[in-house]
Amino acid sequence: MSANDVPWWREAVVYQIYPRSFADSNGDGIGDLAGITGRLDYLADLGVDAVWLSPIFVSPMRDFGYDVADYCAIDPVFGTDADFDELVDGLHRRGMRLLLDWVPNHSSDQHPWFVESRSSRENPKRDWYVWRDRQPDGSPPTNWMSQFKGVPAWTHDTVTDQSYLHVFLSEQPDLNWANPEVEAAMLDSLRYWLDRGVDGFRADVVNLIGKGSDVDDLPDDLVTMPLLATDRSFGHELLTRIRRLLDSYPHDPMMVGEVYLLRSGESASYLGTPEQPELHLSFDFRPLHTPWDAGRMHQAINKMETDFVEPGWPTFVLSNHDRPRHRTRYGTEDRARAAAVLTLTTRGTPFLYAGEELGLEDGVVPDDRIVDPDGRDGCRAPIPWTSDGDDESGHGWPTRPWLPFPANASTHAVDVEVGEPTSMHTLYRQLLSLRREHDALRRGSMEMAAVDDDVLRFERVLGNERLVILVNFGDRQAPWPGELADGQLLVSTDPERVGVGSHVGPAEAVVVAIGA
Ligand code: NOJ
Ligand code: CA
Repeated sequence: MSANDVPWWREAVVYQIYPRSFADSNGDGIGDLAGITGRLDYLADLGVDAVWLSPIFVSPMRDFGYDVADYCAIDPVFGTDADFDELVDGLHRRGMRLLLDWVPNHSSDQHPWFVESRSSRENPKRDWYVWRDRQPDGSPPTNWMSQFKGVPAWTHDTVTDQSYLHVFLSEQPDLNWANPEVEAAMLDSLRYWLDRGVDGFRADVVNLIGKGSDVDDLPDDLVTMPLLATDRSFGHELLTRIRRLLDSYPHDPMMVGEVYLLRSGESASYLGTPEQPELHLSFDFRPLHTPWDAGRMHQAINKMETDFVEPGWPTFVLSNHDRPRHRTRYGTEDRARAAAVLTLTTRGTPFLYAGEELGLEDGVVPDDRIVDPDGRDGCRAPIPWTSDGDDESGHGWPTRPWLPFPANASTHAVDVEVGEPTSMHTLYRQLLSLRREHDALRRGSMEMAAVDDDVLRFERVLGNERLVILVNFGDRQAPWPGELADGQLLVSTDPERVGVGSHVGPAEAVVVAIGA
């Protein structure tokens, strides 16, 4: 617990690192753990509280780590056990926490469990995965389609003349959580990392484990989206047991689940109840799927506010390693600056995606450099640490990295932005320190006003403290609300603004304190 018994993860700002793309210590072109450790002062200075690493475990990298071949070992491309311990230690010494990415729904097809499972129908691990006979006409066992590549979610294996389920790539067979041995082995993997000092996990597509071995045909409109269709009570049962395990550790480890259910309320239901808690946090990706539009954003946030009522607690995410960056989606630096205010002032735990504090755009990846099976290379472009370099190399990377740099890397490099008063980095740093100073931003209630003139307005209130946030989604000036004329300006995304005024500029966002 932190001060006043508020759990740390409700007050934290989490920073997601895609390890391959962050910093390379040994010059193989791939970011690694020692690279991250070398940049911890940068993170501490920025002011984030916890770091989430996308998977670092042994993997053939068909899905760049989301295909795990050993849940309890670090892939050599990322470093050694000693590198990992040094990273944990370096974070903890600076007061930051570490979350690992746990991928419970599927393993790699190279995982020894699957190698055994596919070897014969009698193998003791056969039932660790989901095997079915083909239909008499030779078609797949059910109508499920994979999330990638538009192919069936079943691959036929000639060794035993049966098909196995894979909601993602055929190299990512789904584990069968209906088998208690699978549950026991996967819970052991959590214990392993908790014993090594990690502070929690981001759980990949965690609602999917609830399907167990229940894989009947889906309704026609959901055939391509088994991810959205597998909201089962068994998943909730499993998560209460996972939560009990986490709660048995004294250092308050947390789990944030990727619950890819965009429909109202379903993602929040994975927090469980006070009697039977499940996840600590459950992503709701509605804002991430919302265009730059005041009305639509208002609706998305309002829905989250309705779904994530106390003791539930929302998250706020605009970018991650699966979607074009919001700087790219929204199209301008000004909008991305306003989005930073939104991210760091709404009620909930914000998740930042490394590089958004620099206003990075997606990389433009030529056809011959595409590596991801699902077209997500752009948002995974490497972080430019220095301005000297081109699209392909330099920027503080010892050799050409695995992907080209983001567009405009030279003007958005760390060495250009840090300390530069008008940079995106300075704005994020300012907002992060504002969150630390103002309890209302971390713990206050949130009151949404109706959208007026393309301006989204909400208030964060705690005790005598009242902060008003205005975000102008429009391309034109909007009038400054009269009742805020005497307010105290705390932040504006417009570096020229000196105080409250007569208007809110196009794509400007402000935080204003009003009288006690
Ligand atoms: C969601 C992850 O965020 C994504 O990157 C991955 O490809 C799939 N889950 C499969 O693990
Ligand atoms: Ca490396």
